[in-house]
Amino acid sequence: MQSVEAFQDLQGEATEWRRYLHQHPELGYQLQNTAMFVTEKLASFGINHIETGIAETGIVALIQGEGGDGPTIGLRADMDALPILEDSKKPWLSTIPGKMHACGHDGHTAMLLGAAKYLSSTRNFKGSVALIFQPAEEDGRGAQRMVLEGIMERFDISQVFGVHNSPGMEIGTFALCEGPMSAALDEFDIIVKGRGGHAAYPHRTIDPIVIAAQIIVGLQAVVSRNTDPTESLVITVTKLNAGTAYNIIPEHAELAGTVRTLLPSLRDLAECQIEACAQGIARGFGAEIEFKYRRLEPIMFNHTVETNLAVKAARSLVGLAAVDDKIKPGMGSEDFAYMLEARPGAYIYLGNGPTAPVHHPAFDFNDEALPYGIGYWVNLVETALAV
Ligand code: NI
Repeated sequence: MQSVEAFQDLQGEATEWRRYLHQHPELGYQLQNTAMFVTEKLASFGINHIETGIAETGIVALIQGEGGDGPTIGLRADMDALPILEDSKKPWLSTIPGKMHACGHDGHTAMLLGAAKYLSSTRNFKGSVALIFQPAEEDGRGAQRMVLEGIMERFDISQVFGVHNSPGMEIGTFALCEGPMSAALDEFDIIVKGRGGHAAYPHRTIDPIVIAAQIIVGLQAVVSRNTDPTESLVITVTKLNAGTAYNIIPEHAELAGTVRTLLPSLRDLAECQIEACAQGIARGFGAEIEFKYRRLEPIMFNHTVETNLAVKAARSLVGLAAVDDKIKPGMGSEDFAYMLEARPGAYIYLGNGPTAPVHHPAFDFNDEALPYGIGYWVNLVETALAV
């Protein structure tokens, strides 16, 4: 295992790749040019087991170690950009107005390519490495689709790892935690069915707007009164639609929102209590509700053994103090959760320095982070698949 100096040589080349990808952003599953670029690079490193067209434009490539038989571990990079108009004076500005790499997936792709180049020339590990280049992270479906298309079984992947850059964390630092690291993402819709009428005669109506307002307040009591205060639940109402005029009480009011949880038991509780709360309030006023609840991304869960491997690999690269292994989980979601549902593994944040936040028009992946990302992947492989 090496410290970061061993990977500085790759920074120039990886920066060129990163900036090329930054100039040519593609969205969702429509990553034809990006996938071709990645495939050509992998082939140029002498990697001959490359499968393309997984989940439309996803790629899995295998590198066999020279240290004998062993398991296969998966390293995942996301490749898709965002529908944002870039606001930057940088020479490597997006050439496609309205599309940009505002989440640093250009950097993630370049880091995994850098690791692929290094690992395919050294092969100082047993077993195999599966390089997973994933489309459509931003819409939260790409990882799930690759899993559903059977990559874990087909490539015999036993553990899987992911990295994401983190603006605000210093270059050369890493952070993660064991257990739940980001939240499950669910959505709900509530239609309050009242009885419309003249706004001046409310007693002859069942006003769905007043009921909807009570439901919004009531849902916050699900958080504060039904939930263990030491556990985390977010319920946010993000849509409220009703009415057409100043003097009409409408028939219906529609609410919608999102639920974030870090525990499966709380996810069950939220689904059940949101419906009960809305139903109870509506019935109290003589109205009915229609309720829909959709479970989207799962809780992203870092497994113990793999978290320890990730910490060990990162610390071998940058030292003990530069790796925070006890961060607080976040209530955002990450579609790598689907891969961590399918196989044990760990996800880690990599410092991106003082850049704009992700999904911001002025964001740019920091090329100084490339040797750290490449080095992390290499050390992780040489730790998890040590000869
Ligand atoms: Ni991202």
